[in-house]
Amino acid sequence: MLTDELVIRPAEATDGPALGRLGGALLRQHHAWDELRFLSVADPEEGYARFLVAELASPTSVVLVADRAGAAVGYAYGSLEPMSWKELRGPCGFLHDVLVDDGERGRGVGERLVTEVVTRLEERGAPRVVLWSAAKNPRAQALFARLGFRMTMCEMTRERGGQR
Ligand SMILES: CC(C)(COP(=O)(O)OP(=O)(O)OC[C@H]1O[C@@H](n2cnc3c(N)ncnc32)[C@H](O)[C@@H]1OP(=O)(O)O)[C@@H](O)C(=O)NCCC(=O)NCCS
Repeated sequence: MLTDELVIRPAEATDGPALGRLGGALLRQHHAWDELRFLSVADPEEGYARFLVAELASPTSVVLVADRAGAAVGYAYGSLEPMSWKELRGPCGFLHDVLVDDGERGRGVGERLVTEVVTRLEERGAPRVVLWSAAKNPRAQALFARLGFRMTMCEMTRERGGQR
């Protein structure tokens, strides 16, 4: 029976179109923040759906959907990552994506998605979870800080010729 209650559940292949819509919104949002640093592609919805549905088959990936009455209103995507000399860190879980539909924000959906991804990555052995967050996204950073994430790295980007 479908209720209005929010359920956080593993994504399924049939969530593809919803994952594409949500992932596409995340990509567009980042491109709007910094159009040089963040990708812009034709039809990101199609590409993102294909990418996230392919990740469902990976034993090291976690793709979750926030489902309200059968509609996906948010998603989160994380994975287990091996140690990296380039990033100067040991193995970890990585929270790649989290997005909640506009009309659902500020009601705890994001917190539940992040908490559930972290739990599932820790259950699979992740000693810590790392994430990157756009410099122009302080509201998301406030949420992550509230959930126990500390500031550990700062990315800077320079365009060829120093263009700003
Ligand atoms: C960041 C995001 C996932 C938070 O989801 P949410 O469901 O609004 O989160 P919650 O309701 O659990 O928590 C809200 C908290 O997050 C912060 N927040 C971030 N963006 C917010 C927004 N647009 N509206 C309301 N609160 C927001 C607030 O500080 C709020 O804190 P409070 O509870 O102390 O008031 C959501 O705003 C979103 O999808 N943003 C666009 C995509 C994005 O930036 N993703 C993160 C980078 S990958």
